[in-house]
Amino acid sequence: MEHIEIDRAAEPVIGPGTQPQGGKKVFVKTYGCQMNVYDSQRMTDALGVDGYSATERMEEADLVLLNTCHIREKAAEKVYSELGRIREVKREREKAGGEMMIGVAGCVAQAEGREILRRAPVVDLVIGPQTYHRLPDALRKARSGEKVVETEYAVEDKFEHLPQPRRTEIARRGVTAFLSVQEGCDKFCTFCVVPYTRGSEVSRPVSQILAEAEKLAGAGVREITLLGQNVNAWHGEGLDGAEWGLGRLLFRLAEISGVARLRYTTSHPRDMDDELIAAHRDLAELMPYLHLPVQSGSDRILKAMNRRHKAADYLALIERIRAVQPDIAMSGDFIVGFPGETDADFEATLDLVRQVRYAQAFSFKYSPRPGTPGADMKGHLPEQVKDERLQQLQALLAEHQHDFTQSRVGMRFDVLIEKPGRRPGQRAGRSPWLQPVIVDETAGEIGDIVPVRIARVEGTTLFAETA
Ligand code: SAH
Ligand code: SF4
Ligand code: F3S
Repeated sequence: MEHIEIDRAAEPVIGPGTQPQGGKKVFVKTYGCQMNVYDSQRMTDALGVDGYSATERMEEADLVLLNTCHIREKAAEKVYSELGRIREVKREREKAGGEMMIGVAGCVAQAEGREILRRAPVVDLVIGPQTYHRLPDALRKARSGEKVVETEYAVEDKFEHLPQPRRTEIARRGVTAFLSVQEGCDKFCTFCVVPYTRGSEVSRPVSQILAEAEKLAGAGVREITLLGQNVNAWHGEGLDGAEWGLGRLLFRLAEISGVARLRYTTSHPRDMDDELIAAHRDLAELMPYLHLPVQSGSDRILKAMNRRHKAADYLALIERIRAVQPDIAMSGDFIVGFPGETDADFEATLDLVRQVRYAQAFSFKYSPRPGTPGADMKGHLPEQVKDERLQQLQALLAEHQHDFTQSRVGMRFDVLIEKPGRRPGQRAGRSPWLQPVIVDETAGEIGDIVPVRIARVEGTTLFAETA
């Protein structure tokens, strides 16, 4: 997945509330991947039914929810330091006669459950990702003084019972939106906690997805990003009762009036089928961007990771995709320092990167996760080796990203204007390749798709003149 925090700064995902003043307030802080961003919105919507409105200020919250990530040790540990800080804010608020309930949601909640209450007794409520539809009930119990832990798997229930956002709320969140179509993972890569925290793979039916997409479009959303831990493994029940694949779903979503751009993330190389590749050729609404993590360029390491493909398979796949969409921006994820990774294995990763030339990518040092097979493997590498390899890989990736960014100078293409720019007189949008683009405010309104010509680049940001 492309990540919001996963060791990158996460912002609270909710803004000022839309409910009447004087009701209860919830502050949600989101870590991890886009699915957590989506889930945080769904939780806010569920609590909205009970009269909670969102706040960006923790001090005025009656409920603080941390939506957490367990992917690497650093991400998981961050939760406990944050809980220490929240405890102080809670103390102040209670001194002033207020209430503050504290809930931990997300993948740390699922992985650690009751252990969280032991390490951080200040927590009132622990709720796993598959049980968010039970959040209002769980909160009522917690408010009566009971410590609540909800971590049972029931992902189908989650999607069936979570309330949809209101029109005003969608509009407030902007002209781009996430829509989870698939959750969980059956791949069991040996480094990864996701199959344990999100459970096995579940695909939502087309009817549910369409209803949600139509609602988003009706409230002014122009770009929808379909989410799934393995989004291209999505195989939901179609409108005709048959099983559909992601390519077919994308074609159907493109028919919704108002939906101008479609994206999907994160994909697994083994699940890229012909129909999905064809969508990159035939579907104008499908943006030329593909996040396709490979993790390593060494066949030996790929095998130890249980990725179930070789480096050559991955390169051949990219060749097929580029044959139909030559200007696609490739994105990826890499892990350096997996147990047993030799200099030669690492060189093979650099080699693969040189062949693909990613437009952008994420790279991480291997972090052993309790309960995953990787943690018990032999040949764990010293931190220093991982550090050096990460630096070397990131320098190469940055070089390619820079080249890709520079290659847009002088180009003409459409930009979706998403929000006001940081400076007066500017608006910010995205290129088809997901790059931030700054346009003059005279170029158009938020939600407009306008043709521009790129005049210059600063870092990874493109600056446009109206074409
Ligand atoms: N479903 C996505 C992965 C989600 S996790 C996929 O299959 O691509 C996002 C990324 O975090 C992974 O692609 C991997 O690069 C990284 N990651 C996962 N577990 C990790 C670990 N134990 N140590 C370091 N990085 C890890
Ligand atoms: Fe994790 Fe692998 Fe599943 Fe991705 S495919 S979520 S890396 S187990
Ligand atoms: Fe993190 Fe869970 Fe997403 S572990 S990356 S929040 S699926």
